[in-house]
Amino acid sequence: MEKKGFFATFRTDKWWIQPLVMGTILILFGVYTIAVLLIEHGAIGDYENDFIYYNENGAHYVSPISSPGPNAIPSDILSFWPLPATLLFIWAPLGFRGTCYYGRRVFYRSLLANPAGCAVDKPIKSYNGENALPFIIMNSHRYFLYLAIILAVLHWYHAFESYFFGSSVGVGFGSLILTIDALFLTLYVSSCHSLRNLVGGNVDCISCTNYVKKTGNSWINSLNRHHGLYFWISLVTIMIADFYIRIYLGLLGNDEIFQWVL
Ligand code: FES
Repeated sequence: MEKKGFFATFRTDKWWIQPLVMGTILILFGVYTIAVLLIEHGAIGDYENDFIYYNENGAHYVSPISSPGPNAIPSDILSFWPLPATLLFIWAPLGFRGTCYYGRRVFYRSLLANPAGCAVDKPIKSYNGENALPFIIMNSHRYFLYLAIILAVLHWYHAFESYFFGSSVGVGFGSLILTIDALFLTLYVSSCHSLRNLVGGNVDCISCTNYVKKTGNSWINSLNRHHGLYFWISLVTIMIADFYIRIYLGLLGNDEIFQWVL
C-alpha cells in the first residue's frame, strides 16, 4: 500500500521540523543578502562604501559578504559597473554553497520539498539525478572549491588587518567576529567533500576500495564528518559579522560594542 499526494507519508514522527527550520534559515539568509545588495544600490539608506568597510577610530573592518570588496577592483573598471559592487564577488561563495553536496540535500528537502523527507511523497516525480540541466550544474562544485579556498584566505587577511588600529594594535568586537567568521569558513571549506576527494587521491567510490582502511583517520575525514554543522555555523557567522559591520556600525552609525587599543 502506498500513500499518494504532497507530503503524504506513513511516518508519525515530526519529520517536517528539520526541513522547516533549515528552509527558514536559508530564506532569511537570502532575504538578508538581497537587503545588503539594495543598501549598496542606494535603495535603502544613502549609499557609501562605509557599508562595506567600517573605518572609525583607526579600525578597518570589511563586511564578509562583500569580501574582498570594491577596493580589489581598479576604480576605472568599477566606474563602468552600475550595480552593487558586491555582485562582482558574491557569485563565488554563493556558487560554492549552492552546489555544496550537503547543501543540495538541504535545498532539495527544504526548498523544493523533493522529497521533504525520507518516505514522504514528493511533488516532482521526474527527477533524473544530476545528469542533465538544470541540476548537472551542481557538478561545478569542485571548481567553486578553488575559489572558496582563495576566499577563506581573504577572510583571514581581513581578520588579521582588523587587529590594527592606525599605527596601533588592539582588539575590537569586530576583530573577534571577523576571526570567528574566518575560522568557521575555513572549517567549512576544509571539510568539503570535493576537497576530501582531491587530497584523498581522487577516489570516487570509497566503498569500492581500501581507501577507508588506509586513510580512515586522516584529518580531512574527521573534519568531513561535521561538514553539515560547519555549513550552518559558517552561514550564521557570516551573517552576524556582516550585520555588525555593515548595518550596526555602518548604516546605523553605532559605536563599537568594545574596543581595546594599545
Ligand atoms: S561538499 Fe559542501 S562545500 Fe564542498
